[in-house]
Amino acid sequence: MENQLIIEEIKKLKAERNAVILSHFYTRSEVQEVADFVGDSLSLCKAAVNSKADVIVFAGVHFMAESASIISPEKTVLLPVPDAGCPMADMVTAESLRDAKKKHPDAAVVCYVNSSAAVKAESDICCTSANAINVVNSIESREILFIPDKNLGAFVSLHTDKKIHLWPGFCHVHENISGEDIQELKELHPDAEFLAHPECRPEVLGFADRILSTSGIIKEAGSSGSTEFIIGTEKEIIRSLKRKYPDKKFYPASGKAFCYNMKKITLEAVLNSLRNNEFEIHVPEQIRVKARKTLDRMLEINGN
Ligand code: 13P
Ligand code: SF4
Repeated sequence: MENQLIIEEIKKLKAERNAVILSHFYTRSEVQEVADFVGDSLSLCKAAVNSKADVIVFAGVHFMAESASIISPEKTVLLPVPDAGCPMADMVTAESLRDAKKKHPDAAVVCYVNSSAAVKAESDICCTSANAINVVNSIESREILFIPDKNLGAFVSLHTDKKIHLWPGFCHVHENISGEDIQELKELHPDAEFLAHPECRPEVLGFADRILSTSGIIKEAGSSGSTEFIIGTEKEIIRSLKRKYPDKKFYPASGKAFCYNMKKITLEAVLNSLRNNEFEIHVPEQIRVKARKTLDRMLEINGN
């Protein structure tokens, strides 16, 4: 079917089912165009809480749809492609976390939102890349077990006097950006501002002018006086940046910074999701209630 026909059908079904489409910035641009809301992980959590829809179609990866379902159990939450996952979220399991908690009994567990519901249920508080520093500094414990992203955890440890135990997880998309990539781009574009996501490696963050979540990068590109930017995150956001700020120039930090899981969500998959109620996310109630507390504690912190 042609894209225009698919889009019309999606709009019709959305109205019939009182559905909204929430999309992350890393999905395909044509999917972002049919979305009611496009955002980073934190704003998507908030959009799920505030939505009056009966159905949420999550154009993103599994942990995002699961978080929406944890917060809004009364809504039908659909993930159009069931195996659109996040390899980093899979780097920590509830079982491995329980073992680590035994080794660090005094540490509070701060889990990145890129984690399963079962892991959230075993954690004390959640965070996203937009609020991780504020979350860590808001809790009483002097000792923190930060899971699963070692790069975000290392970045946070530079902005707190708490003792942080890092987990060896990482996002392969951001790990694909190297210090050499940035050095080469800086030589080619000496006036460009380098905006980096905190999932990048420490050596890459060392070159950054600003370290921000995806929403933060988009806002900074608009408010900054600079006209050229090196963008240190998943390369799809370059399209949004160019569309939003056509007079500015954007260079991806690496052509290899590509999240194939986000790209699994196609327009056809969104249409089938609405048509066939595919694929409904169910979180067992016992896990959901505990995971919700972890997410709620984060949402109560007014620091993003
Ligand atoms: P944010 O949406 O918090 O910027 O995180 C990026 C990411 O990798 C999402 O999976
Ligand atoms: Fe996971 Fe990285 Fe893809 Fe985000 S960009 S979903 S952290 S693999």
